[in-house]
Amino acid sequence: MTSPWSRSTTWTDGELSIAGVPVSTLAARFGTPSYVLDVDDLRSRCRDVVTAAHRAGEQHGIETAVYYASKAFSSTAVLRWAHAEGLRVDVASLGELATALRAEVPGAAIGLHGNNKSEEEIDLALQHGVGRIVIDSIPEIELVAERAAAAGVVAPVMVRVTTGVHAGGHEYIATAHEDQKFGLSLATGAAAEAVEAILQTPQLTLLGLHSHIGSQIFAADGFVESARALFRLRSEIAAASGVLLPELDLGGGFGVAYTPDDDAPDVPALVAELVATVARVAAETGEPAPALSFEPGRSLVGPAMTTLYRVGTVKPVRLEGGGERLYVSVDGGMSDNIRTVLYDATYTAVLASRTADAEAVLSRVVGKHCESGDIVVRDVMLPADIRRGDLLAVPVTGAYGRSLASNYNQLPRPGVVAVGDGEPREIVRRETIDDLLALDVG
Ligand code: LLP
Repeated sequence: MTSPWSRSTTWTDGELSIAGVPVSTLAARFGTPSYVLDVDDLRSRCRDVVTAAHRAGEQHGIETAVYYASKAFSSTAVLRWAHAEGLRVDVASLGELATALRAEVPGAAIGLHGNNKSEEEIDLALQHGVGRIVIDSIPEIELVAERAAAAGVVAPVMVRVTTGVHAGGHEYIATAHEDQKFGLSLATGAAAEAVEAILQTPQLTLLGLHSHIGSQIFAADGFVESARALFRLRSEIAAASGVLLPELDLGGGFGVAYTPDDDAPDVPALVAELVATVARVAAETGEPAPALSFEPGRSLVGPAMTTLYRVGTVKPVRLEGGGERLYVSVDGGMSDNIRTVLYDATYTAVLASRTADAEAVLSRVVGKHCESGDIVVRDVMLPADIRRGDLLAVPVTGAYGRSLASNYNQLPRPGVVAVGDGEPREIVRRETIDDLLALDVG
């Protein structure tokens, strides 16, 4: 059992409050739907994972770095907070890179990912002296070398290795098995081939090996297995070329609890365990331990945000096998949270603006889009008297919520409201109909 609610969420005076601000105040001031970011929650998760990695590293003589995977949620305020807590930033597009630069994250603290990097992305990254570019294919070696030569710099790179480890919640978010687009295969020798080619390219410096095995992973074994696989490859490279690569990156993917039934891992403890594992493997082989880096996204920002919706239509529907389900429509839906539809993700929800004595009944939270699949929370027990005007809160929407949001049905995307950092304020403004129409140039 892990509470899905952000750390400063309380039940006070008959309603839900986040960082001491009642949801009714937030809804009145910023409207609904809104993503509400509990700043203390985010910052403490960032701090805890950096501290755990650092402490374990000190204990075992291993240097560590933690990158915030900004694809989970990218905004300048969040990147500034993460960087202030000691994180670096992982970006995977021109927009994510531009956001990190706008947040004044130093280039050296930025890592560039992507299976199809554009010349523009590579050039901007090199211009700002990014700490590393993670090579994802053989042709990319030449491309990055060419752009580095044009810029007159030597590009620091890592090789993304497909270790064959199967982990992760859903097929679409598992990434280290063979039949998918990311990385260079360990099994076919493509990873070793890439390493060899990079070592012979003067415009590139090889920092190390990278593996990201998937997302929403609860158990440590997949990470341990991939760490061992990377370590073995590093030993083989050293034996073949005499070069002992200084760093391994074990990626992100640590799971979070979306409902109280999920038994999510303690991420700082898991990171410390992985540092200790690599130290042990190094001791067994007698080789110097590599520096280690990690790239969590979801586990840092996911639990820090809660979506606030306003309830509209409420409709009881008779079920085929008997019984009833209450369909509770909210003023957003699959445009602000596609994860339920896309990955069969499970969420929970509560009536947040008042207490209710009515019995809890089987309910489904649905959006306002023109699709029957437009489901936010598939099954949840809600008070039978839930009605138009009530506020509904859905926790753990910070990761891949706003970042996967769309304008389906021409709905403006919700804003992100930060609480717990002075006055509540929008750090990402709610879109307006005018914003949408401004793009329509006829
Ligand atoms: N590093 C790399 C190279 C990645 O591709 C990802 C996520 C991460 C780190 C961060 O993983 P995290 O710690 O956030 O699990 N949209 C999906 C998740 C896609 C993950 C993409 N890559 C979802 O909503 O579940």
